[in-house]
Amino acid sequence: MTTRSQELDEIEASIWSELEKCVATRPRSEPGEDANEPPHEWRVAVLATVDEGQADARSLVLREVDAAERRLIFYTDARSPKVRQIEQSPQGTLIFYSRELGWQLRMQVRLNVETDGLAVSSRWAKLQTQAGARDYLSVAAPGRPLDAPLADLGVRGHFAMIEAMAETVDWLELHPRGHRRAVLGGRSSHWVQP
Ligand SMILES: Cc1cc2nc3c(=O)[nH]c(=O)nc-3n(C[C@H](O)[C@H](O)[C@H](O)COP(=O)(O)O)c2cc1C
Repeated sequence: MTTRSQELDEIEASIWSELEKCVATRPRSEPGEDANEPPHEWRVAVLATVDEGQADARSLVLREVDAAERRLIFYTDARSPKVRQIEQSPQGTLIFYSRELGWQLRMQVRLNVETDGLAVSSRWAKLQTQAGARDYLSVAAPGRPLDAPLADLGVRGHFAMIEAMAETVDWLELHPRGHRRAVLGGRSSHWVQP
C-alpha cells in the first residue's frame, strides 16, 4: 500500500518529469511549430520578482530543466529590468498551469543571472545561428521608449541566462472528485487544504 508520504514523493517526481518533458516541445511563440504537436502548457511560465517593494511578473519560455539539481533555466536580454530586479532581490516565484493535467505549480525559487562565462557563451554559440538570436541583438534595451535617442547604445549580443533553483513547490490539483494540494520540498513535504 502506498503511504501518504510516498504519494508526495511520487507527485514530486511526476512534476519534475513533466517539466523535463515540456522543454522537449517547441514554445508556442516560435515560428515553425508543428501545429499537430501542441507545446506543453508549462513551456511558458510566469516569473514573479520584486521591484523595489513592488511585485512584477512576466511570461518566459522555459529552456532547460535539471531535475536532479531542481534547476530551471530561462534566457533573456541582460539589459532587461528583470535582471536588475533579480540582482537586487534574488527571491522569485514561478507559476505554471496546465489545464490538461489540472495542475498549478507555485514554485518558490532563488534566482541568479549569468551574463558571461562558459555556461553563457556555449549557449549563445548554439543560439546565435537561430532566429531567436535577434531577441538579444537589438540596439535598444527591452522597455526603452522608442523615441529615445540610440547614440549611446552598443550593438553586441546581450544574451543572458536566468537560473532558478527550486526551494519549495506548492502543487494544486484541480479535480472534479476533489482538489488536492501539497507543499513539496524534500523532507518538509506535507498536504495542505486546497
Ligand atoms: C509567450 C511569451 C514568451 C516570452 N518569453 C520570453 C523569454 O523567454 N525571455 C524573455 O526575456 N522575455 C520573454 N517574453 C517577454 C517578457 O514577458 C517580457 O515582456 C520582457 O522580457 C520584458 O520583461 P521585464 O521588463 O520584466 O524585464 C515572453 C513573452 C511572451 C508573451
